[in-house]
Amino acid sequence: MSVAKPLPHDAAALHVTGAARYIDDIPSPADTLHLAFGLSEIACGTITKMDLSAVSAAPDVIAVLTADDLPYANDVSPSVHDEPLLSDGTVHYIGQPLFLVIAKTHVAARKAARLGQIAYDAQTPILTIDDALAAESRFEEGPRIWTKGDVTEALAKAPHQVQGCINMGGQEHFYLEGQAALALPQEGGDMLVHSSTQHPTEIQHKVADALGLPMHAVRCEVRRMGGGFGGKESQGNALAVACAIGAQQTGQPCKMRYDRDDDMIITGKRHDFRIHYIAGFDGDGRLLGVDFTQLTRCGWALDLSLPVADRAMLHADNAYHLPSARITSHRLRTNTQSATAYRGFGGPQGVLGIERVMDHVAAALQLDPAEIRRRNYYAPMGAETAATPDQRTPASVQTTPYHMPVTDFILHDMTDKLLEQADYQGRRAAIAAWNAKEPILKKGIGFSPVKFGISFTLTHLNQAGALVHVYQDGSVHMNHGGTEMGQGLFQKVAQVAAHRFGIDVSAVKITATDTGKVPNTSATAASSGSDLNGMAVANACDTIRDRIALCLAELHQVTADEVRFADGKVHVGPHVFSFAEAAQTAYHNQVSLSATGFYKTPGLQWDRIKGEGTPFFYFAQGAALTEVVIDTLTGENRILRTDILNDAGASLNPALDIGQVEGGYVQGAGWLTTEELVWDDKGQLRTHAPATYKIPACSDRPDIFKVALWDAPNPAQTIYRSKAVGEPPFMLGISAFLALSDAVAASGSNYPDLQAPATPEEILRAVGRARA
Ligand code: MTE
Ligand code: MOS
Repeated sequence: MSVAKPLPHDAAALHVTGAARYIDDIPSPADTLHLAFGLSEIACGTITKMDLSAVSAAPDVIAVLTADDLPYANDVSPSVHDEPLLSDGTVHYIGQPLFLVIAKTHVAARKAARLGQIAYDAQTPILTIDDALAAESRFEEGPRIWTKGDVTEALAKAPHQVQGCINMGGQEHFYLEGQAALALPQEGGDMLVHSSTQHPTEIQHKVADALGLPMHAVRCEVRRMGGGFGGKESQGNALAVACAIGAQQTGQPCKMRYDRDDDMIITGKRHDFRIHYIAGFDGDGRLLGVDFTQLTRCGWALDLSLPVADRAMLHADNAYHLPSARITSHRLRTNTQSATAYRGFGGPQGVLGIERVMDHVAAALQLDPAEIRRRNYYAPMGAETAATPDQRTPASVQTTPYHMPVTDFILHDMTDKLLEQADYQGRRAAIAAWNAKEPILKKGIGFSPVKFGISFTLTHLNQAGALVHVYQDGSVHMNHGGTEMGQGLFQKVAQVAAHRFGIDVSAVKITATDTGKVPNTSATAASSGSDLNGMAVANACDTIRDRIALCLAELHQVTADEVRFADGKVHVGPHVFSFAEAAQTAYHNQVSLSATGFYKTPGLQWDRIKGEGTPFFYFAQGAALTEVVIDTLTGENRILRTDILNDAGASLNPALDIGQVEGGYVQGAGWLTTEELVWDDKGQLRTHAPATYKIPACSDRPDIFKVALWDAPNPAQTIYRSKAVGEPPFMLGISAFLALSDAVAASGSNYPDLQAPATPEEILRAVGRARA
């Protein structure tokens, strides 16, 4: 039994001893050259003159390239070819790469990159959501609008209404290993690229286009990333392409890594949003209709903004059945970094919108916010058969705003269990008593659920491949299209492979993702890494297993189903062999012990223009309760306690899954509390290092942090009935924000209208509003 075991991450010992190799640790040849970009210093305009003589003359500089020197495609965009590697003469944000320096050392390249003398014809940049709205600066012609029912009528008839607006900031990925790439020229003009990327196939593709080569001439290899969080789905393209071009032009290996400030200045971050809402509801707090307007700041290039904005729309309901809804999404173009994928991929922003509505409704009716949420939940899985007095429409016909039936909803039971275990009612009363007697320190408690759709919304991406070899000694070499970024994908999939062969996981060798082994891979994203690659690897293993079984069955005169693989042994009728003996016998009988595997998610269809269909295979769910305290004089705050129940289906590895939940929650809470991105009025990002941008530290982890998995098999036929766990827990961090709002509300009688991130300054402002 290898699946479901809480085994450590395969590289845990390497991580903690510093022996794990990241891009910059890969031994590189002595003649390796180092690259750096010269960056734009204005946010919008055109270049009138570029004098790079001082750059070329700087010590140890080998070459300096501009767009004119690029032999083929000047494009590193993941989508619509709107993102040149080096400026085409126009400038779109402060930090945009204008020229490329190739030097003998990393420091020499970086120093020289600062010596460019650039003259610009500057224009007024479009920086904020308001700027973009005023200038009609957007991607796609108008807003995208999805509707369900007649929301105008529902709002008009609703006995109660709230309306408001919540701003939420972006977020820097702050992966510990910054963006990095190493290109090694091969014989005959081929190129090998090591990249810290979630998407090796795209690196291969962009490098091939930039070098004028077919994809077969380029191989991309990724052993691991020191974190990606969505920030390495597309943002590694520029470095990999730059290195490949440098390597092609010089014939020498080229390496590039961004220093932390450059990384923050150059690369895209989470999209910041403003969401306006009007919600109509009855006296019990049941929503009748919600009208959302989502304004999203996409930055200068398209990147992945359309699917990100789509996913924000797709999660505007979170866990709640909306009888009618209208969701309007504006994708705004600004002269800032091109916003990109970040854990949740727009989902968190959409979820925060409806959670704000729930909070506001509860405040308006003076009712328990957790109870209001529960009342609005989708009908539970199996509700069609288990009729209860307060039963609403059967689950089979309760649909999302995009008209997908919700048939696997399990949050009622999860919520009841969490709130009971965490003594929600008792603590709510204790907090009320505390707040009644304490004038300065106010406590608050917040509950939030999450229901997150699993699958890529671009349906064809829901596919994966694998390559498995069994050697004569019974050891196994496993490869698949997924990438490892710390989430434990490789370990989980190795457990699947071991389980298929009935062998110990130590017999399975985990190998680097390699476009030469498994082609045409999707990015490791949308939390679907283990769903997709687990299935593909199982498929490859089964092919080999069935061949071995057939061979042994013939030799020993039994039927193939009398051959069993378990406990490191192969049972052939009455005979028992070690797996190694079985492999050797198969080899001697000329049986192929190598196979590819493939998987595609069944049953998906989605029309993103209409906003209609079944974009998701299933929903991963979770629930969190957070207690906080704030200082109403300073705005300082702390998370005191967090309780989480997270649905991981039948977990492939509970230890890794709990790690994902803890990390996701803390990262989500960081997004909504301490992490604040500040651009000045010129468009310069002012928070570009840890000194000014504060991610949660170890000490910000809740002192009491109780995380448990809701261990129930996924009704959808996923690998061993597990569920995706990478992104959904991020949204549980919203409970911290709601708890802060609750604490602020205790300081006055108005709705505090807390905005995100809830920094101490914002909490002070909200205290002022609550008291006004
Ligand atoms: N966990 C760690 N430690 N590091 C990461 O970079 N990325 C997250 C999540 N968990 C990430 C992580 C994101 S954005 C996604 S989409 C998933 O992992 C991707 O991996 P999976 O599909 O295997 O869950
Ligand atoms: Mo995750 S944002 O889908 O890489």
